[in-house]
Formats: sequence, structure tokens, C-alpha cells
Amino acid sequence: MKKVFVTRLIPDRGLVLLKKQGYEVVVNPEDRVLRREELIMFLEGKNYDAVLCLLTDKIDKEVFAAAGSQVKIFANYAVGFDNIDLVAARERNILITNTPDVLNETVAEHTFALILAIAHRIAEADQFMRDGKYKGWGPMLLLGADVAHSTLGIVGLGRIGALVAKHAVKGFDMRALYYDVKRNEDFEKEFSAEFRPNLDDLLREADFVSIHVPLLPSTKHLINADSLAKMKKTAYLINTSRGPVIDEHALEQALEKGIIGGAAIDVFENEPLMDLGFKNLDKIIVTPHIASATEETRQKMGEVAARNIVAALEGQTPPNLVGTPGQK
Ligand code: DGY
Repeated sequence: MKKVFVTRLIPDRGLVLLKKQGYEVVVNPEDRVLRREELIMFLEGKNYDAVLCLLTDKIDKEVFAAAGSQVKIFANYAVGFDNIDLVAARERNILITNTPDVLNETVAEHTFALILAIAHRIAEADQFMRDGKYKGWGPMLLLGADVAHSTLGIVGLGRIGALVAKHAVKGFDMRALYYDVKRNEDFEKEFSAEFRPNLDDLLREADFVSIHVPLLPSTKHLINADSLAKMKKTAYLINTSRGPVIDEHALEQALEKGIIGGAAIDVFENEPLMDLGFKNLDKIIVTPHIASATEETRQKMGEVAARNIVAALEGQTPPNLVGTPGQK
């Protein structure tokens, strides 16, 4: 019987799919991230054929070695796979897969929820009510910024970035700018979007800057003190991609000093921690890496990961193979 190790409990559909295939499925019994030594201990000598892992598991040479020569695939339960050493995987002929597409709509929705929430000061207003501070309607109370007709700057025009632009243009009549390593003229036509080959130009023009790049050596701290200084004083920064794309300390300083208007952040440089300074700032909304967290999407991610495993163990090419280091 083929054996699959799942590093943490996921919604049931993916697990059911694996069991229906006749595989033995062993799930980490504790609903928490396994420490590195624990993950190694769970894998060592067990001869699993496949591992379903999460973005919170750092998968490298030692982990592959612990999994042994039987293992064919590590199926990541995420679209991003910066947690996996692809070079080490290739050296051991281990297949790596991700879960693209099924989460696009959900992440784009969460991104837009953050845009609306930061512009309309939703978290501050909620806290204000809870604190019993509301003494009646006031013309100057909690003034925010309009989203409609403003300019959105998309950094990284992948599938999620494109959907965010769609909501912006079709739903809020926003002007869309985008920065990417590749120009996409079809997208430009469809959404009257404008390409900015230079990130600084986008940063100077946008009212909302939304980050949608994968984490690569070239995108680490893509947004730093220098780039923040180029943004409008009133602009908002949104990040639902990966935390290290933004220099978190530089962001905290920029918010503190009023260099930008605000930020809405779902991902952090050193998760599960966040820059402590964020706690005391009204100008930032933080959510705990939940942009893809709807019941249905998390089920679908499990199904996709499970299908990748089944394909690999039945001698087919998994549909969502990620071969090149850094590819997303
Ligand atoms: C991903 O899939 O990479 C997200 O960050 C979590 O859903």
C-alpha cells in the first residue's frame, strides 16, 4: 500500500481523495506547524511515497534525505513554493507541485477587501465603536479616501494581480497601471491598463499599490525605504503575496513618519511574527495570511494537491509540476 504523509490537517476532500485511491494517509496528529526536527523525525525511516506539505514547512536537503529514496513527490498545499529547495529536489529526482488557479478569486477578493478596508478605515471605525467613542455623526469623523476613480498600481501581473485589476477597473472605474518583467498587451487592451516598465514610475503615480509577485531573490525587499519614499504621501500599500517582498521595518518607519498614507498587509517577513511597531499604528490593517482562507478554496487546494500526488504515484506527470527554481 502506498503511503502519504500530510504535515498538518487540511480540509477533508483532498484526504478523502487519497484514501479512495487506496493509499495509507498519515496526518500530523497535532494541528500545528511541525518544528524542523519533528518533521524530520516523522519522515525518517517511514518510507513514504509522497508528502503533502504546507508553505510553513521548510523543505530542504535534510528533509528530502529524511524522507528517503522511496518518496516521489512533495505536493505543496499553496500556489507559492518559496519554502521548497527546488535544486535539492531536482538532485534527488523528487517532483514538486503547487496548487495554482483555485485560489485566484479568493485571494483577489481578500486583496480588494483590504483595499476597501484601509481606504474606508474599517478596522479603526470598528474599534472606535467597540470602545464606546461614538458620540454622534460628525462631518470630520474618520475621513477616509475614495477608491473609485483612483489609480491602482499592480506589481506583478500574474493571475491574481490581473483579477485584482479586473475588480478595480470594472467594479470601481479605477485606472490600472502594472509593473511586471513581461508586458501583456492583451491585458492592457481589455482593462485599458498601462504598463510601467519602471517600478518607480508606478510607485509615483498609484494611489493603491498592490503586490502580487512571487518571493525570489530578485523580489526580496523589492519594496524598501527607497521605494516607499517614491510613493505618494497619501498612497496605500497592499500585500497578499509574500512578506519578505516588503522590508517590514522600512514600512513601519514609513507609516510612522507619514511617508505613505497606510498599508494593508496579509503576509509578514518572519511569520508568524510581525513588526511590533505595527501594533501601535492606526494606518495599517493586518490579517494573518488568510487571503486564500475560504472553506471552498481550502478544500480545492487539498483536492489539487491530492491529484498531483495521485498522478505522481500512478506514473503520470502531475498537472501542477513546478520545475524551475523560483517559478510560480
Ligand atoms: C499560497 O497559496 O501561496 C498562499 O499564500 C496561501 O494560500
